[in-house]
Order: sequence, then structure tokens, then C-alpha cells
Amino acid sequence: MPHPNTACTPQPVTDPPPGPGPGLSVVLGGTGGIGAALVDALRARGEPVLALGRRTEPRLDYADEASVQSAGEAVAQRLARSGERLGRLIVATGFLHGETASGQRAEPERSWQHLNADALAHSFQVNAIGPALVMRHFLPLLPRQGRCVAVFLSARVGSIGDNALGGWYAYRASKAALNQLLRTAAIELARRNREAICLALHPGTVDTGLSKPFAKTGLQVRPPPQAAAELLAVLDGLTTADTGGFRDHRGQVVPW
Ligand SMILES: NC(=O)c1ccc[n+]([C@@H]2O[C@H](COP(=O)([O-])OP(=O)(O)OC[C@H]3O[C@@H](n4cnc5c(N)ncnc54)[C@H](OP(=O)(O)O)[C@@H]3O)[C@@H](O)[C@H]2O)c1
Repeated sequence: MPHPNTACTPQPVTDPPPGPGPGLSVVLGGTGGIGAALVDALRARGEPVLALGRRTEPRLDYADEASVQSAGEAVAQRLARSGERLGRLIVATGFLHGETASGQRAEPERSWQHLNADALAHSFQVNAIGPALVMRHFLPLLPRQGRCVAVFLSARVGSIGDNALGGWYAYRASKAALNQLLRTAAIELARRNREAICLALHPGTVDTGLSKPFAKTGLQVRPPPQAAAELLAVLDGLTTADTGGFRDHRGQVVPW
């Protein structure tokens, strides 16, 4: 019996044959610091790219699941109309500090004394639940044959094994949740297409609004265009052996 929700899952009308080029890249959070640099770098290569964010048309806002579903449907319609294949799905959304959906301020916690339900809920909404909805509404758009890549920008601080410093509870925990969601989706994706690659990627410290208040001297902070070039080099070099993994911007494995 089909799963009751499959009716809502957007599907391209036909699955185009594996073409020679990289296909269309869709960058979710393509309006953010790293996402916009990735969009620029892909456009500079002459590749087709679609940037989606809260201020684009269609709009993608994790506070509104319907917007994730309709953005997925819009991409499905474009693929069906143009005959393009979805070669790369890049999820560059994320939240570390700022205004939450309820209008309160959230900052990374230095101690358990700062734990706050609203900040925790918002971090999980943007860093884990939103990307999970993306898995539901966008992963089915990837082709069933041929190489394709779905990459979710995570963070080394989401690594449980690498956590020696403590602090930043909500960000760490929500990125750890993202990593588990991604690992699970990678297994399901491989059953649909053995050439599909699904990865968590740590971009390193990049000079964006997200990192600015916390970029201490000593950390290697890179400008977004440099980070984008490094991340694309990692994506270009991935093989199916890398699916379900967690890597950094140098291509090195990050412990879970
Ligand atoms: N910068 C770093 O040093 C660093 C280090 C480690 C990991 N990362 C990760 O890299 C990714 C990109 O970070 P960044 O530095 O480029 O951050 P950024 O400049 O703050 O961009 C964040 C992006 O997330 C989107 N976003 C936020 N809330 C959203 C919501 N409710 N619904 C949909 N989209 C939402 C923003 O959309 P709007 O444009 O509409 O605001 C923006 O496109 C994040 O996952 C981050 O955790 C960054």
C-alpha cells in the first residue's frame, strides 16, 4: 500500500537521462553569506543555478512548511518543463544567533544557565526540522540514475565526538540532529539511485553575518568566495563511497 503522504511528494514528470553536464544546481539559503557565494561561483562557471530563500520567488521559509512544499513543486515544474536534471541540491540555510520566530533574541549559550526553550526551538526549526522538510520535498526531485549530489551545510561544532569545549548547546544539538537526519536520508537515497551522494559539509569559519560576532583571532576566517571555491572543489571530488558522510571544506572526514 502506498504511503499516505506520497501523493504530496513532488515528482518531475519524466526522469531525464543522465546528461554530460552537472545539471541544475538548487541552492537553498542561496541568499545567505555562503549560499550567495556558491550561487555566484556556479554562475561564473556558466552552470544553471537557482537560488531560493525567504525573499525569493518562490519563497522558502522553514517557519511555513507550505512554502517548502511549493518551492519543491516549482522546482519540479521547472525540471519537467526544461528537461534539466537536478545535479546538485545545496542546503546552505542555518541559524546561530539573532531574532527567533517569536521575535525574541537568541545567542549561543555559554552555560546551561542560558538554556532557553524559545532559542532551542528556533535553532531546531532552522537547523534540523527545516532541512528535514527539504529532504521530504526536494530529495525526490533528484534523478534516479546518474551522479547527483545533495549537500547540507552542517558545522564541526555539531560533532559529538569533537566536542571538547562545551557551550553553544542549541546550535551544537540542532546540527547533530541534522547530521543524523542526513545520514538516514542518505541510506534511503542510495536505494533510489546508487550514484547519488548525500553529505554533511562543514564549511570552515567563513566571514558572514552568522560568524561575525564569534570570529576570534586565531581562527582562520575566510571570505565567502574563497569558501565557495573550496566547497565546490570538495563537491566535485566526491564519489559514491562518500555518501552519508561528514566532511569539511578541505575534504577531510569530520567525526560524528
Ligand atoms: N559562517 C561560518 O563560519 C559557518 C561555520 C560553520 C557552519 N556554517 C553553516 O553554513 C551554513 C550557511 O551559513 P552562513 O554563514 O552563510 O549564514 P548566513 O549568512 O546567516 O545565512 C543563513 C541562511 O539561512 C537562511 N535562513 C535562516 N533562517 C531561515 C528560515 N527560517 N527559513 C529559511 N531559511 C532561513 C537565511 O535566509 P535569509 O537570507 O532569508 O535570511 C540565509 O540564507 C549554515 O548552515 C551554517 O550553520 C557556517
